[in-house]
Amino acid sequence: MTTFDTAIHLVYLAAATCFVLGLHLMNSPGTALRGNRLSAAGMAAAVLATGAVLVRDHGITVWAVTALTAGAAAGAVAGLITARRVPMTAMPQLVSLFNAVGGGAAALIALGDAVQRSQEAGTPGLQTTITTVLDVLIGGVTLSGSLVASGKLAGLVPGRPVTVPGGRWATVLLALATAGLAGLYLTGRTGALGLSGIGVAALAAGILLTLPIGGADMPVVISLLNACTGTAVAMAGFVLDSSPLIIAGALVGAAGAILTKLMADAMNRSIGAIIAGGYGTGDSAGPAAAVGAGAPVRAITAEDAALQLAYAHKVVIVPGYGLAAAQAQHETVALARALTERGVQVSYGIHPVAGRMPGHMNVLLAEADAPYEQLKDLDEINPEFPGTDVALVVGANDVTNPAARRPGNPVSGMPILDVDRARTVIVIKRSLGHGYAGIDNELYTRPGTAMLFADAKKGLAQLLAGVREYAA
Ligand code: TAP
Repeated sequence: MTTFDTAIHLVYLAAATCFVLGLHLMNSPGTALRGNRLSAAGMAAAVLATGAVLVRDHGITVWAVTALTAGAAAGAVAGLITARRVPMTAMPQLVSLFNAVGGGAAALIALGDAVQRSQEAGTPGLQTTITTVLDVLIGGVTLSGSLVASGKLAGLVPGRPVTVPGGRWATVLLALATAGLAGLYLTGRTGALGLSGIGVAALAAGILLTLPIGGADMPVVISLLNACTGTAVAMAGFVLDSSPLIIAGALVGAAGAILTKLMADAMNRSIGAIIAGGYGTGDSAGPAAAVGAGAPVRAITAEDAALQLAYAHKVVIVPGYGLAAAQAQHETVALARALTERGVQVSYGIHPVAGRMPGHMNVLLAEADAPYEQLKDLDEINPEFPGTDVALVVGANDVTNPAARRPGNPVSGMPILDVDRARTVIVIKRSLGHGYAGIDNELYTRPGTAMLFADAKKGLAQLLAGVREYAA
């Protein structure tokens, strides 16, 4: 091994260390930014080292360098602009688009490599052909599946489960065709053309598998597709014999798989059941929808709600998607601070799938500097509700719906925040409109619940003004 090779291996080792340490730092919102930067620095070093190897081996033409540089620059600019402009509420569909890009790129790497090999003498080893097939298969499913998932979240594709007539049979046929083509490719009886057939079958399977999934199951699917992206990238690493790609892909795949399992558990779903067929609906019936056909709902004024909060001993704030839509995180934290200064014990109850992406609420509240020790997850906060004077629900709906405790509806089995067990509940939202799962919330008609009909940002500002008045 030359000194150059040793240096390259050391850079790859350092890059892998950065990925692992970066992932570890992402455990907490306080260190997540540093973790992200460390991982990005590791990846930048690995890319530069790979470029140096190509130049040293004369394995790259001037045209290829130009194309790579132009592609990388265009991708970096597009990524930077998108990441800066995207509102927090649209982040899940962006993550899904990134998954699609990752899966598609990994599949193209394998296809490109197969085309190049077909022009060379000799047959590739079994390790290369197996990982090539897996790369194209997983990458193809991820590409089309993530595009459908992103379209569902962006409202471009119906969010409810869409069943294609004969879809299940078509999926079985696609699986059989893929198995046949994979067999031909592995035994050397077909080349890049057969591999392209696997790619087309994978793209069709991704669409057929994702379309019937809807409503409350979408977060788990996005996380699963993220795990698939990582796995496809790891396969691409085997195809190219690139250790940084294998390590980065394996880390993303493992992290995505763990998150998928945690989220499925948090929603009391089995991953197999989610993939086999959608549970939820997903299309909101709109703000005009009414709860329980005429059941009485008690409205409250901001002044009365502020009074209740100001004289409470213990308040739990439950944030949901509406808080993110209204960008009301700063008002929420300001209200919590004002209450804490009055001696009220304040916590935030964070549901694992509140909002539209994993960690949505934690990210928003961290941005507004909510103290970490006040952020409590479902298991930690639920036993505290019976001793809570006021549960203040801000733009959360499905994650508080007691209907989840009964079978036969789209949120059945999903663990909820037990706000209905608090002494009183105040819900801030604009109307009696549905949440993501598209069903009535029985919480709103309970005797202990009062509705403050307002945009979250405006309602919280009124509450803050009221609390300050009573604190004076
Ligand atoms: P949702 O059940 O979706 O309810 C959000 C509520 O916010 C709506 O009922 C809406 O009522 C209200 N709202 C919207 N804009 C508002 C505004 N400007 N001010 C005040 N309220 C506003 O939210 P959730 O309780 O957070 O539950 C999350 C749901 O999304 C679950 O079903 C979950 O499965 C699904 N989901 C989650 C994820 C992840 S990973 N977190 C990803 C995809 C889907 P009004 O229109 O009456 O105001």
